[in-house]
Amino acid sequence: MGFLSVLTMAQRLVAERAAPGATVVDATAGGGVDTLFLARTVGPGGRVYAFDVQEEALARTQKRLLEAGGAGGDGAGTGLAEVLLLHAGHEEMADRLPAEAHGRVSAIMFNLGYLPGGSGTGALDGDGPVITMPGTTLAALAAALRLLAPGGIATVVVYPGHQGGQDEASAVDDWISALPDETVQALLYRFPKRPGSPYLYALEKK
Ligand SMILES: C[S@@+](CC[C@H](N)C(=O)[O-])C[C@H]1O[C@@H](n2cnc3c(N)ncnc32)[C@H](O)[C@@H]1O
Repeated sequence: MGFLSVLTMAQRLVAERAAPGATVVDATAGGGVDTLFLARTVGPGGRVYAFDVQEEALARTQKRLLEAGGAGGDGAGTGLAEVLLLHAGHEEMADRLPAEAHGRVSAIMFNLGYLPGGSGTGALDGDGPVITMPGTTLAALAAALRLLAPGGIATVVVYPGHQGGQDEASAVDDWISALPDETVQALLYRFPKRPGSPYLYALEKK
């Protein structure tokens, strides 16, 4: 049977904590898989903020939402939450979410790395795919912990396998290791017999 994939485990942990009507964030919209999952999970009355630095990713996300019955708008009549697609870096999330949402967000999902099949370039030496980067990722993680409600969860899928991925993975490992136990409970979900494979952190705010 095997264990759940890191992506499915992230969704499982979020689904247990994000109630209908909640406010949630997809920090890396990409192809929109997690955005749609979040929109279904918090449903009508809920709100999803989805960030990506690539127009292409937001277009893919919008298409996925439309195909699922939502317009990326207010979700009326679709069974989906209102979804706000933000063409911005996740490191801006504290500025982009309204003040009334601060400290009230139920879940924030990060899926680091690059957009599979994406045409974007510019991350490393102006070449290669657009990837998430350690500096902005750590800034966004810090912002995420401030935005979460007590009991809220941040999930972070880390990809050490691509060029630049190990640097980011090490930065995330170190940052999470240094978090104070009094404020955050941290979980690591990993397949140790598969070197270089993605792994998942979950952070529950106390
Ligand atoms: C692995 S993909 C996300 C996959 C997505 N969660 C899904 O379900 O399809 C990573 C995404 O992060 C985006 N990204 C890179 N840097 C970013 C940043 N600073 N802020 C927000 N998104 C960023 C990339 O453009 C890419 O689309």
